[in-house]
Amino acid sequence: MFELEWRGGATAARLHKRRPGGDALPWGTIDLARYPDAHAIEARKIWSNGVFTEYASAAAFSALTTALLECGAPIDLVAAAADIVVDEMFHVELSSRLTMELGGAVPIAFDLADISPRRTASRPIVRAAEIAIVTSCVSESLSVPAMARSRTLADEPLVRAVLERLLADEGPHARLGFWFLDWAADRLTDAERAQLAALAADTIAVYAPLWQDAPCDSCPLPRGLGGHDEVGRAALRRAVEASIATPLARYGIVLDPARVAALAA
Ligand SMILES: [Fe+2]
Ligand SMILES: [Fe+2]
Repeated sequence: MFELEWRGGATAARLHKRRPGGDALPWGTIDLARYPDAHAIEARKIWSNGVFTEYASAAAFSALTTALLECGAPIDLVAAAADIVVDEMFHVELSSRLTMELGGAVPIAFDLADISPRRTASRPIVRAAEIAIVTSCVSESLSVPAMARSRTLADEPLVRAVLERLLADEGPHARLGFWFLDWAADRLTDAERAQLAALAADTIAVYAPLWQDAPCDSCPLPRGLGGHDEVGRAALRRAVEASIATPLARYGIVLDPARVAALAA
């Protein structure tokens, strides 16, 4: 079961010195009695999943940092990847605190031994490219519009403040993969670039149900507590082309246009 611990003391002080402002958010302001029970439960599910996603992002950027070190990537790029791990752990903290205020986490069954991204290539630079594309170029590029829409829909001040704080960090998270490709693209072979293009499309396909599955009319949509709607789904569809396929093509990582069109439909 996915469960988190907090040590406190020197390690907490260090984190909050590096990422200040968390305590200033409007904690303790949500009145759950204002919402139907079903909405509160749905919000707990959404935010429990959010905590897990932030934790998995930390693992992914941590693995990316190691992979960047193994291929001799630029020093400042490696430092940025490592610093993003700290961003994500701060996001884990904020999302967890919010989940507690919503009534506590729902159980998530997951073996943390499987949290790191899989790396299949043998060449270090290609392993780094795999993680950079899956984690940054695709996943983070989709999380930016999803989170931005949730923030627009959220009218609870605390939910909005947490989303704003998370969103303020996410831009560079989605840029890092492309910054890596600025350095790495010329060092990849045509065959490697083709494999990476297929991997990018496969990763988009994993997320596609978010905008392709029929909206659930009977599901409670806790807008005030952070949820999604058709406008958010349209933003995700646009991001497939504009934020992923088009910029990757500039590095010779060209996704199959028919597949992109089908994924963005
Ligand atoms: Fe995050
Ligand atoms: Fe992120």
